[in-house]
Amino acid sequence: MNFSLTTSAALSQRQPAAVLFAFEKERLDGPVAFRNLLRRVGPKEFRGTERQLFLLHTAGKLAPQRILLVGLGERDNFTIETMRRAMGLAARKLRDSGIERAAVQVGDDHSDNSLIAIVEAAILAMYQFRQFKPQDDNDATDLNSLTLCIPPRADLPVAKRIVAEAQIVAEATNYAREIGNLPGNVVTPRVLADYARTLAKESGLACTVLAKNELVKGGFGGLLAVGGGSANEPQLIALEYNGVPVPVAGAKRAAAANPIALVGKAITFDSGGISIKPADKMDEMKFDKCGGVAVLAILQAVARLKLPLHVIGVISSAENMPSSTSYRPGDIVTSYRGKDKRGVTIEVLNTDAEGRIVLGDALVYARERGAKTIIDFATLTGACVVALGSVAAGLMGNDEALQEKIRASAHRTGDRVWPLPLWQEYKDKIKSDVADIKNTGGRYGGAITAAAFLAKYVGDTPWAHLDIAGTAWTTEDLPYLTKGATGFGVRLVVDLLRRWS
Ligand code: BES
Ligand code: MN
Ligand code: ZN
Repeated sequence: MNFSLTTSAALSQRQPAAVLFAFEKERLDGPVAFRNLLRRVGPKEFRGTERQLFLLHTAGKLAPQRILLVGLGERDNFTIETMRRAMGLAARKLRDSGIERAAVQVGDDHSDNSLIAIVEAAILAMYQFRQFKPQDDNDATDLNSLTLCIPPRADLPVAKRIVAEAQIVAEATNYAREIGNLPGNVVTPRVLADYARTLAKESGLACTVLAKNELVKGGFGGLLAVGGGSANEPQLIALEYNGVPVPVAGAKRAAAANPIALVGKAITFDSGGISIKPADKMDEMKFDKCGGVAVLAILQAVARLKLPLHVIGVISSAENMPSSTSYRPGDIVTSYRGKDKRGVTIEVLNTDAEGRIVLGDALVYARERGAKTIIDFATLTGACVVALGSVAAGLMGNDEALQEKIRASAHRTGDRVWPLPLWQEYKDKIKSDVADIKNTGGRYGGAITAAAFLAKYVGDTPWAHLDIAGTAWTTEDLPYLTKGATGFGVRLVVDLLRRWS
């Protein structure tokens, strides 16, 4: 998508369409010709309610050939998410009408945040997963160019920077969606490692991949157990970005000495293993890699934004399959030990609770690499989906201040999260008679007992856990996100990291 900026009005642009946002119960103003056109629009045709759209032809009376009116609902209820949704619907309406170029009026009363929302929503809404089903030639129109019309007094260079940065973040989100949507036969752990290597080369990141024999040598017992049932061998993928300028001083030295680790679950396909899942919706388990993929995408954005931070990405990737080499219920496996005397031992009660096991190894590895803060992303539990639906991710951890920051970023980006408690009673649920912990905590509070399992591995390192099981993909089209992987977590954590310090 191409963006250009101007301080002249959308209604003065000679373009196939101009997009105007309107609050409910407020009159749109403009030149006489525009007001005359509006007079013909019946109150039921367009009242400015949320999600309402109305396309009218200007028949040569105004510079744009068409005007798309987009409802925002009542001004009092307006949030930045309202704008994102409105622009997402508008972009789809334009594309479905065969319109490739349009001017968008960014209003006086809309702030810089509206500009960000408009750019992001347009890029996100136009994404389609088309690798295996290309569009046919006769409906191959795509909305590909937007002129953003900002108020006459606005600062153009500042607006330009805002647009460029919003573009980076939205494109990173689409990068995550594209890899997330790829099926299990295409993206195996090894292929995911190749994506990481390519990203590292393009973005100037350091990349380390531990393949099967290195995992054996290192004693990554959790990842090896989970991946053991598949011919597609497990991989531990690490990416490192250091944007702290050298020579470092003051606050910046602190950033270099306090690397942030982003840890992701990347099960390229989760059949459940020996504790196999029912056939219904099992196909959706290709999305079980979305936590790890979010980590890739966040590192892409962090590098393109050149943030003055030190960030380490750790992706624990395996395929969970049933076979004669699978791990079994009853097995006792030993996690990667890192610098500890011994690794945590796990009694496996259900091979389908594999995410926490692969994350255990990755969390220890992240701490060994010097992480001073850890955020993990995982499509970890069906229980989280029961609790929060697909509206918000579960947020847990051991650090209130970190959680507050994440909640603030969630509010700004629309990648919503909601906290769940991590009290001792939940930790007691995963105690085992024969090992340090067991990998299931019973039927109730499943999202939390899974987080309690992870807590075993982070010690006192400030840590936040995002259970994205309900938000990593959508089975219905949303205003600015179509069916499939959503890239959840990318906009959220990039926002968090931009404000880090
Ligand atoms: N990847 C699944 C969690 C999941 C399920 C995400 C449905 C999204 C939709 C995870 O590996 C899993 O299978 N968890 C089990 C844990 C249980 C066996 C303790 C679950 O949630 O049922
Ligand atoms: Mn599972
Ligand atoms: Zn899983």
